[in-house]
Amino acid sequence: MLQNMLQVSIGVGYGKRLYGVDVRGRRETEYEKPIMEKAKNQIGKDQDSSDDMNTVRRMRLKDVEDAIGVLVASFEDSWNRYERNYYPRKALEFDISQYTSENYRKKIQEPNGFLFVIEEDEKIVGVAVGRILRGNEKKGGLALLSVVCIHPLHQRKGLGEALLGHVLKYCKKQKCHKITLYTLPVLIPALHLYLKLGFVPEAYLRKEWWEIDFLKMSKWLLGEC
Ligand SMILES: CC(C)(COP(=O)(O)OP(=O)(O)OC[C@H]1O[C@@H](n2cnc3c(N)ncnc32)[C@H](O)[C@@H]1OP(=O)(O)O)[C@@H](O)C(=O)NCCC(=O)NCCS
Repeated sequence: MLQNMLQVSIGVGYGKRLYGVDVRGRRETEYEKPIMEKAKNQIGKDQDSSDDMNTVRRMRLKDVEDAIGVLVASFEDSWNRYERNYYPRKALEFDISQYTSENYRKKIQEPNGFLFVIEEDEKIVGVAVGRILRGNEKKGGLALLSVVCIHPLHQRKGLGEALLGHVLKYCKKQKCHKITLYTLPVLIPALHLYLKLGFVPEAYLRKEWWEIDFLKMSKWLLGEC
């Protein structure tokens, strides 16, 4: 919904560098420990240091269909659980209609965009999308996060925090001074996640989009992330 609200198209410059993330905070069960040990020995060269089988990396063209599957499942589930009495169904359907291969293939070509996926057992289970609004400079600017989601079957395992944490590190490396997003006051999991990672409510937007209220939340990145 957020990218549609902003009416921007978001993309990423497809680079050679892939980004991994440390998710040591993830709640590992006794059952998972041997699997995690095995995964530590399987870290491939196209990911950064990661000590279990969760990896954050750039979205590639071949990931587009899987990523769209995660987006649709996640936003349908979230609508049913949190937004049903708040966000119009037709608005959700409009948002979902924008999650097409064609749109995402375009986004991947856009130089100031960033699209990341998080994998569990080499399967894409989360997606984060945004772009950086810059002046003439190659670095710096305002980062706009338009999507962050985790597949409903993989939520509450630390993946959303790992994915968003990775986005923050990326934006900081890009020397963005600030990251901003738009969300709904009823999205309890997302609001908790944003607050936990240091976002603050910056504005309450009355009847902003589909005539409903949105929240603008931001985090300033010049200090510690
Ligand atoms: C928001 C979302 C990405 C969180 O992903 P997740 O992998 O389940 O989150 P994590 O397990 O990493 O949890 C990190 C923090 O988020 C918050 N959180 C996550 N789920 C929550 C829930 N059901 N209730 C309250 N807080 C929650 C907590 O602060 C949690 O920290 P804690 O475990 O120390 O309490 C996920 O719920 C999602 O995809 N929701 C649907 C899509 C969406 O709403 N996107 C945002 C649109 S603005």
